[in-house]
Amino acid sequence: MKVVVTGGAGFIGSHVIDALCSKGAKVICIDSLDPDIYHAPPTYLRSDVDYCFVDLRHWQPDARFEDVEAIVHLAALGGVSRASREPANILGANVLGTARLVAAARHWPKLRKIVHASSFSVYGSNYTYRVPSTGKLINGDRRAEDLLRGLFEVMDPHTGEVAEILPITEEAAPNPLETYGASKYMQELCYRGFDRSSVTLLRFSSVYGTRLRLDDGEATIIARLAGWIKAGEPPKIFEDGQQARDWVYIGDLVDAILALVMGVEAPAVINICSGTQTTLVDACEILQKVLNVRCAPDIVGGFRPGDMRHCVGDPIHFSRLLGRDPLSFSDGAILAFGS
Ligand SMILES: NC(=O)c1ccc[n+]([C@@H]2O[C@H](COP(=O)([O-])OP(=O)(O)OC[C@H]3O[C@@H](n4cnc5c(N)ncnc54)[C@H](O)[C@@H]3O)[C@@H](O)[C@H]2O)c1
Repeated sequence: MKVVVTGGAGFIGSHVIDALCSKGAKVICIDSLDPDIYHAPPTYLRSDVDYCFVDLRHWQPDARFEDVEAIVHLAALGGVSRASREPANILGANVLGTARLVAAARHWPKLRKIVHASSFSVYGSNYTYRVPSTGKLINGDRRAEDLLRGLFEVMDPHTGEVAEILPITEEAAPNPLETYGASKYMQELCYRGFDRSSVTLLRFSSVYGTRLRLDDGEATIIARLAGWIKAGEPPKIFEDGQQARDWVYIGDLVDAILALVMGVEAPAVINICSGTQTTLVDACEILQKVLNVRCAPDIVGGFRPGDMRHCVGDPIHFSRLLGRDPLSFSDGAILAFGS
């Protein structure tokens, strides 16, 4: 089977390529080797893969692509702060790049599957909380006056009772809050009306695993925490450190992509998340153990306007695809960061 993997030089794409090659697939990779990410091609590139080092914005498909059966589209420029600095570049790379790929794919007669990498950032802050005593549903807004008093939880605005987050499902309406999230949602919309093959949109929460760039300027929170602890620098954490995140292990994500490429039926949109919440303080504890470095976090208090208290997804469709539960962070961290 011939598979195109875009963004295959990157963190997730390189793992997807390794898995596809281990199953005997012939892989063509399209990757721009974005100069903000790489000073040189990464050392993990493979000799048995056909690499096209080109930006999708300028790529011209040739005869090699005519018998492609599946596409795993991962190419995108990431980072909320980069997207605010370079909106035209990020929107161009992500949206125009996807539109050009989709236009080319219409002409590939053997194509039967596209797996697209989207993101939890498309949901923005569209999370729902439940007030335990009344069952009342509220959003995750927090008042500045509460945050200034060190009251960081999401609370019923009338009674002050602390509310619990409901894991976000695929039914939640997209409402990206910034340019990167908007570009990921616009990528999803590029497939509207595409009927040449089945398409599955995977919305990834934050992913961790080997090859995660810990020192990247656009690194995710989990990459930063791991990078700081590895270097023996106490991570600086806002609020009280009880903010919770849902990190997903790369191996679980790769298993899901492989299943989809191999033809397993699945819904059109799937959250790729663990479904378990880990607080930042607990993540630091786990990382210290796994990296074997004593380096307690520095809980600096304070808050950043717009930060979300919790991010957690419902992985029901992901679990069905895997045939098991995804790993929690405490289990995945050993595989990702252990020596
Ligand atoms: N890593 C995460 O936690 C996470 C979370 C949510 C969504 N995602 C999505 O998953 C995908 C892969 O993420 P990653 O962490 O492996 O990123 P990465 O930066 O490691 O890899 C992305 C690759 O895409 C390439 N690229 C970017 N724009 C391109 C273009 N226009 N044409 C060709 N190549 C291009 C880059 O050179 C890079 O090698 C992205 O679509 C990203 O938006 C990642």
